[in-house]
Amino acid sequence: MKCLGICVALSVIALSAAAILDFHPLSDERIAQINQKAKTWKAGKNFDIEDWAKVKRMVSGVLPDARLKNKLPVSAPHDVTEDVPDTFDAREQWPNCISVQTVWDQSDCGSCWAIAATAAMSDRICIQSNQTKQVFVSVEDLNTCCSDCGFGCDGGYPLEAWYYWQNTGIVTGGLYQGNQGCKDYTLAPCEHHVDYTTRPQCSALNYTTPACTKACSASGLNYEESLTFGQEPINLAEELQIQLEIIKSGPVETSFDVMDDFPTYKSGVYEATSSNYIGGHAVKIAGWGVENGSKYWLIANSWNTDWGLDGYVKFVRGIDHCGIESNVVAALPKV
Ligand SMILES: *[C@@H]1O[C@H](CO)[C@@H](O)[C@H](O)[C@H]1NC(C)=O
Ligand SMILES: *[C@@H]1O[C@H](CO)[C@@H](O)[C@H](O)[C@H]1NC(C)=O
Ligand SMILES: *[C@@H]1O[C@H](CO)[C@@H](O)[C@H](O)[C@H]1NC(C)=O
Repeated sequence: MKCLGICVALSVIALSAAAILDFHPLSDERIAQINQKAKTWKAGKNFDIEDWAKVKRMVSGVLPDARLKNKLPVSAPHDVTEDVPDTFDAREQWPNCISVQTVWDQSDCGSCWAIAATAAMSDRICIQSNQTKQVFVSVEDLNTCCSDCGFGCDGGYPLEAWYYWQNTGIVTGGLYQGNQGCKDYTLAPCEHHVDYTTRPQCSALNYTTPACTKACSASGLNYEESLTFGQEPINLAEELQIQLEIIKSGPVETSFDVMDDFPTYKSGVYEATSSNYIGGHAVKIAGWGVENGSKYWLIANSWNTDWGLDGYVKFVRGIDHCGIESNVVAALPKV
């Protein structure tokens, strides 16, 4: 009987200790915990605690039922006896493709599903043309006009983006005020991070999805004539198939389950230290490598250049971590 009392007392102490250790995901205390736990990467302050609602919106651009599994059979189109290099970086492979060199800013909008798609589409048009065609496929058009794709700034379905490119077409258009085609992105880059820049604070915004207009905002351009199209999308799931696809045709889109330590990523090879799921996020895979023995995918995020490694993250490769390899989709451009 005495023991029961002691055990209860002990478990009360244990519970309160656990509660004390349960720091806010963006707090300095939590960052210190992550840095103790993470063996291959470094965490740091990227966002203020007050930005948590915004951060969650930024990582919720892929709807929970968007998983590719069972929606599109896995393809294995490449001859896997071919060798792939240990490291590959699309930015170095295709230095003349402006799109490949561009880092996006989704602003205060959950449009990552559309940005990762159109970034890969734009890259692929340039790559297919031997780096001569500098065409941006419009995030704005996809994010606002594709009704099958989901809810624009409130999240979407990456696979539907590629079907829309194939069946309806997406006009040209690039960065906010970029003068890169028919319809540039209308949401201004904002200050996601703690470092002071000249960008407005994201917290001052709170964008709803802009209306769809089937007309060019750039004068002198015709909507129909500005349409670009893709071929049938494919789903790749094996590491080597994904690598060969990137070497041959360019970057691909993928999405993954975001754990609450991801927003604090600064450098190294990311592997979650937490199992607290906070959303689904779409990104572009632009290459791969090995760092200190850890294999990684080189991934372009859409949180501007002052997040992570100049806007990129090295994400552990080969173990389908958080679904990174089971949600890959891409298509060739239609010429
Ligand atoms: C691609 O462009 C380079 C020059 O920029 C040229 O040397 C090469 O022959 C071209 N390749 C093809 C397949 O057209
Ligand atoms: C943004 O606006 C929506 C409604 O338009 C509201 O529900 C949400 O709380 C707002 N978010 C922030 C962080 O202000
Ligand atoms: C790689 O490991 C070495 C030795 O442990 C360490 O000093 C270095 O910071 C690591 N590099 C990265 C990028 O993590």
